[in-house]
Amino acid sequence: MIWKYICGSASSPLSVSFSERPRDGQVIFNSGVYLIGVKSGLLALSARCPHLGCQLAYNAADRRFQCPCHGSQFSLKGHRLKGPAKKEMTVLELRQDHECEGYKVIF
Ligand code: FES
Repeated sequence: MIWKYICGSASSPLSVSFSERPRDGQVIFNSGVYLIGVKSGLLALSARCPHLGCQLAYNAADRRFQCPCHGSQFSLKGHRLKGPAKKEMTVLELRQDHECEGYKVIF
């Protein structure tokens, strides 16, 4: 079964689909978006580093996001752990979309 957790229509600024719902603590990536299962539900984070925009990689062993360009690191919830980035990862708005039985990410 294919699950669509993020989807959208022509009016949506971004449409991203995921083939599975992440369990608590699980991280899934698609099209520049990390979808993370958290106790309260789902968390969507932009994979763009808040320092200069490189794409963050998820390190499953350390359970953190790492920037390959200058070494910034972020927690599973996007909190800054190590610089040079001064900001947290960008939390994307998730909206449940009843038309596609999923969620929309709003940038
Ligand atoms: Fe990520 Fe510089 S672009 S730390």
